[in-house]
Amino acid sequence: SRSINLAVVPGDGIGQEVVAQGLKVLRSVLPQDVKLETKEYDLGAQRWHRTGETLPDAELESLKGHDAILLGAIGDPSVPSGVLERGLLLKLRFAFDHYVNLRPSKLFPNTATPLAVGDEQRGAIDFVVVREGTEGPYTGNGGSLRTGTPAEVATEVSVNTAYGVERVVRDAYERANARPRKKLTLVHKNNVLVYAGHMWKNIFDKVGQEYPDVTTDYLHVDAATIFFVTQPERFDVIVTDNLFGDILTDLAAAVTGGIGLAASGNINPTGEFPSMFEPVHGSAPDIAGQGKADPTATVLSVALLLRHLGHETEAVRIEEAVAADLAERDASVPRTTDEIGDALAVRVAS
Ligand code: IPM
Ligand code: MN
Repeated sequence: SRSINLAVVPGDGIGQEVVAQGLKVLRSVLPQDVKLETKEYDLGAQRWHRTGETLPDAELESLKGHDAILLGAIGDPSVPSGVLERGLLLKLRFAFDHYVNLRPSKLFPNTATPLAVGDEQRGAIDFVVVREGTEGPYTGNGGSLRTGTPAEVATEVSVNTAYGVERVVRDAYERANARPRKKLTLVHKNNVLVYAGHMWKNIFDKVGQEYPDVTTDYLHVDAATIFFVTQPERFDVIVTDNLFGDILTDLAAAVTGGIGLAASGNINPTGEFPSMFEPVHGSAPDIAGQGKADPTATVLSVALLLRHLGHETEAVRIEEAVAADLAERDASVPRTTDEIGDALAVRVAS
């Protein structure tokens, strides 16, 4: 569409810094006739300290009215662990039914990687993890008995519904079918997690019958971590549950240039609610406010946002600008957050 009504949640720590660069690049890439409206939401650690609120209903309601959400990072060591993660970030993902957590990884030329790869292999490392975003052990379905005593028992139940699994598996098949290699790998642990694991595999096989052109594969999650390091080029699209996907995508980022480059989209494919785009990294309080954070992951998340809203040309322009910027990077000449944002904004300028 010819206008974008964007909600901006910079959040905590470096979230503020990287989101500013993401917006800079967004403004630079959009053609004149696309009107961009932004509204910033003050949510995160400071808000919680001030008012005790994480995400009031009125703000949740107001966020609903936007075309998309750009989020920086949530979390701060001054707030008890879980308060903001559950009360804000996961609350948004659940309330807006972000059942596809899309996390692409690509090994760009000239990017540092701990992998021993030749140049030919680099180009072949290009995969996307479709992480389920609304179920698994993330639902808060659990409890603790005799808390704090030596006899404590804690449970954290992984919730998997046929409805929830089928919709994310179908989305992953669609994505695989649209890519040149058309390969989809299911990652789970069905040799141990026999209830959820078998349900995932059965649904995966059943939906697969509708996609005869997609080649399928299954890996246990532990084996998958080996291949992420030894043979990442074997992957094209991966579909997995919320927790496995969380862990695998940090590993994916680590082997493809680091967490500074990893983008993500929390997508509600039906369009009923706004989708939310955020770098995979966290608020990095150790470097916050120093202009050291790499805004590239946020800028690439803006590309995912534009693609989701149908602005494919602009999305590609951003991705090409990032590739070109990475190709010219010299690790011995570090740039500030702002300088990287400026360089990318110049490259994408329309
Ligand atoms: C992520 C983060 C979150 C998650 C946390 C902060 C709740 O690690 O986006 O990957 O586990 O999903
Ligand atoms: Mn994570």
